[in-house]
Amino acid sequence: MDKTALEASAPEQADRSSPCGGPAFLLDRHPPKDDFAADVLEGLSKPQKQILPKYFYDARGSDLFERICRTPEYYVTRTELKLLSDIGPDIADIAGSNVTVIEFGSGSDAKIRRLLDALPSPCAYVAIDISRAALEPAIEDLSRDYTDLTVGGIVADFSAPIELPPEARCGGKKLAFFPGSTIGNMERGRARLFLADVRAMLAPGDGFLVGVDLRKGRDILDPAYNDDEGVTAEFNLNVLRRINRELGGTIDLNKFRHLAFYNEADGRIEMHLRSTADQRFEVAGEQIAMARDETIHTENSYKYSVPEFVLAAESVGFRVLRTWKDRKSLFSIHYLAAI
Ligand code: AVI
Repeated sequence: MDKTALEASAPEQADRSSPCGGPAFLLDRHPPKDDFAADVLEGLSKPQKQILPKYFYDARGSDLFERICRTPEYYVTRTELKLLSDIGPDIADIAGSNVTVIEFGSGSDAKIRRLLDALPSPCAYVAIDISRAALEPAIEDLSRDYTDLTVGGIVADFSAPIELPPEARCGGKKLAFFPGSTIGNMERGRARLFLADVRAMLAPGDGFLVGVDLRKGRDILDPAYNDDEGVTAEFNLNVLRRINRELGGTIDLNKFRHLAFYNEADGRIEMHLRSTADQRFEVAGEQIAMARDETIHTENSYKYSVPEFVLAAESVGFRVLRTWKDRKSLFSIHYLAAI
């Protein structure tokens, strides 16, 4: 979007803060709504059936994901959180004071708090999320607890470049933040485009702090996506429940099994739902047939080596100032500087 368009449209879209506190602004860019039915039908008509991973996250799916993060096998969340705490002073040294922090997604309260607590007097925090329902409570909570900070939100799809409104700036450097290895759920080419979009939002000298899960052995990766308690299996199967509920589906969940494995050649965890029988079911009025052992591919979670990620970042105009890893080299956090 060009700047003129943004400034022209902002006044009627922005909710301003009340004098009693709360977020300083909430701008709604009205991202296009998902077409769940069309996406599911298109995915199920492909030779390798597919459901897009963004559809995992209805209310129950989001709760299940929170539970995955607490399973002993899923090292990702707890490793990143500990690493963030350990490297807080290093991040603060590089970023300096008076920073505007821009977070993509408004998921993990714990991670952004760790970053804000580490930075010396940050001046603004702006969350960008496609879901207004997720964004509003997140920025309410932060504005209540960080009263010296200008807290705001933008409802937008961050898979395209986003122009920041003047309210989101307070003079110092910008520091974009994308934790959780959510970048790993993008295809590798798409991840590079995303990095380029973030670069386009920044000026030379601004920073981008990004959490990236690392390539490692099957002994750690396979259990992380096949926890003993079956939470990841339930998370995966839940998308079929959602289809039944929202699209009038007639899928028998007992005829599917969770399947997750590390595809080492492609450096990714693949999640599928495997049909245990020849079967037919209906979705949004359409008949779908599946053979026994045929799968629906539901998610890829790409893992990177440090040189692989550095190459991708440097190919789109960043310089990697620092890479931190935990003691066991499970997870990495990179500080990229826009050049
Ligand atoms: C959100 N994302 C980074 C998680 C991952 O590890 O790819 C989603 C997930 N899927 C199964 N377990 C966790």
